Amino acid sequence: SSTGILHGKKVVVTAGGTIERIDPVRYITNDSSGKMGFAVAKAAKQLGADVHLIAAHTDEAPPEGIRTEKVNSAQDMYEAVQRVFETSDIVVKAAAVADYRPVETATSKIKKRGETMTLELVKTTDILESLGRQKTSQFLIGFAAETDTVEYFAKDKLKRKNCDLIVANDVTQEGAGFGTDTNSVQIFDKEGLVLQLPVISKEEVALRLLTLAADRLSGRSS
Ligand code: PMT
Repeated sequence: SSTGILHGKKVVVTAGGTIERIDPVRYITNDSSGKMGFAVAKAAKQLGADVHLIAAHTDEAPPEGIRTEKVNSAQDMYEAVQRVFETSDIVVKAAAVADYRPVETATSKIKKRGETMTLELVKTTDILESLGRQKTSQFLIGFAAETDTVEYFAKDKLKRKNCDLIVANDVTQEGAGFGTDTNSVQIFDKEGLVLQLPVISKEEVALRLLTLAADRLSGRSS
């Protein structure tokens, strides 16, 4: 049995989609339901880890018995992750983080005026990329949601963001990606494909992923 293989390990998980405010009544977000990240948090707990979940926008109830910190924007998530990163053993970035946010957040509701309006956006901090630069002994797991050229983009993100593993999901595939209870993923490390999983529940994906991470972590210290 794999029960307890993460005992004594601190696992940080991010889930959900960030919210980038335009004004007090409008925001930019994405289709993440938080299910994948929540499944990872539950699986980590099941495997005995000390879990810290950082959750952006989601309609799901946060998993019971797991310390959950709620955040809104990519910047909030960045700051929350930074506070716990140094003492963590495994970090799993399942959240869908906005790549851009409005340059300014209006303090009162923007009024309807011209036929067109332009919203100026600026890049957010790439959380995973900054963790990849800072990491010492932390085992870093990224996700990659892709609609095309999945393997190429996933490998590129793995290298650029200095991850130990990347979980690629082709979100155009039936039963995979945003909002579903199942996922179908390919897991890569720097050498290439490690694991290819069919459409299975997000809980099952999470268990397979964390079992792999636990194996690799224990391999390091022996
Ligand atoms: O939440 P669900 O409905 O269950 O859906 C699951 C999921 C599709 C959201 C999940 O499986 C997934 O793929 N999450 C990552 C989605 C994503 O934004 O991927 P990306 O390719 O844009 O980003 C790559 C990685 O960098 C991700 O680990 C992301 O968390 C991270 N990132 C991205 C941008 C940013 N500013 N900071 C980041 O840390």
